[in-house]
Amino acid sequence: MRKILVIGSGGREHTLVWKIAQSELADKIFCAPGNGGIERLAECINIETEDMPGLLDFALHEKIDLTVVGPELPLAFGLVDQFEKAGLRIFGPTKKAARLESSKVFAKELMRKYEVPTANFRIFEDAQEAKNYINQTGVPCVVKADGLAAGKGVIVCETAQEAEKAVNSIMEDRIFGDAGKRIIIEDYLEGEEASIIVLTDSNEAILLASSQDYKRVFDGDKGKNTGGMGAYSPTPFVTKDLFQEIRKQIINPTITGLVKEGIDYKGVLYFGLMITKDGPRVLEFNVRFGDPETEAVLPRLNSDLVEAMLATTNRQLAKFSRFGGLQWDNRACICVVCASGGYPGKYEKGKEICGLEEAQGLSDIVVFHAGTLRLGSTALTTSRSGQANDTYKYTTNGGRVLGVTGLGNTIKEARERTYQAVKMIHFEGMHCRRDIGDKAIKN
Ligand code: AMP
Ligand code: GLY
Repeated sequence: MRKILVIGSGGREHTLVWKIAQSELADKIFCAPGNGGIERLAECINIETEDMPGLLDFALHEKIDLTVVGPELPLAFGLVDQFEKAGLRIFGPTKKAARLESSKVFAKELMRKYEVPTANFRIFEDAQEAKNYINQTGVPCVVKADGLAAGKGVIVCETAQEAEKAVNSIMEDRIFGDAGKRIIIEDYLEGEEASIIVLTDSNEAILLASSQDYKRVFDGDKGKNTGGMGAYSPTPFVTKDLFQEIRKQIINPTITGLVKEGIDYKGVLYFGLMITKDGPRVLEFNVRFGDPETEAVLPRLNSDLVEAMLATTNRQLAKFSRFGGLQWDNRACICVVCASGGYPGKYEKGKEICGLEEAQGLSDIVVFHAGTLRLGSTALTTSRSGQANDTYKYTTNGGRVLGVTGLGNTIKEARERTYQAVKMIHFEGMHCRRDIGDKAIKN
């Protein structure tokens, strides 16, 4: 009996649970704390992602065989270190390794030392010095808080006034708290963004299929940054040759650099890249699966994810790779996020979600839940087609509510199918982008 615990409550975690549930290696899945959709596939337990003693007690008591960490905070706090100390198998990097995401200064210095291509930058601990530097070097530029800021710590500045305001709010007003003690000012890079998710055990790196995230709230990349309004996979502009270049110039030197620094990295390493006319450059590292990229990438994975994760924690990725590695579905996948009215600003919760059953009934559509709550308990019924229907009632319970995901022979087909499903879903205030996937079609 193999028991697996997934930590987190978003669309990424629903996707992980959905994929893990397809594995013959998983007999029982728990999720802490989970969400309305995850409840269909896993036993959700009421422990928050940052409650380290609670998670550890639970895993020890239940004799969990494999724990998979979704979000960055538990990793940055050292959950993996604690689980490993207690003799538990856990998929994810240690606290020291998680600094690649939890400190942008650490990440940039590592890239400089090991010649990983990234934007030119300077680090500042003093606001006035930072502002003087902006006056000397000019705009556009990008101001980044060193520490974790829930994805909001990066401000792209077109004018000197905007850049000064960004420095003041991060360093003086401390809008991100201590994350703003130090900042980075870096050159603005132009190009197309791509996300490359890698499995690594420090010896071997296995690249997952490429994807692209849509971070801004409105069509045409307008409006505020969000946690991600949609994604698609694969990205046509990341050609086979470019994949090799990314591996050689970026992924291998990063992992070798970590090893030279005495950092043993096991888990997922996410490379947020800008493909510039001079080649790929690293914008950021994440030490976990991207959200919503995971929703667009994992439905294309034909291989057993649990097997790959166990190979990672057992340091057997080279062998796993020799025996075929990861196999992919050639079809394209698109995930469109349906968000609450007002998101990424203030929004209301508790709105009834309609049309889920109809949307899920379409072929090659999966609806991943992010911020949802399941109400009451109505039994599953069986439709005329013999498919089990989900007749539970769900309400909204977060900013990003659903990730409606569809596969198709081409991006265009996946996109048509996905938006057809989106059209069937409704809740008060719902909004989504209408242009997810267009960058692939344009390319
Ligand atoms: P990050 O969290 O570092 O990925 O930054 C969030 C977003 O800001 C990225 O996805 C990019 O769209 C943008 N960004 C970050 N750094 C740069 C840069 N040097 N040049 C242009 N855009 C950037
Ligand atoms: N989609 C980018 C992230 O997960 O941070």
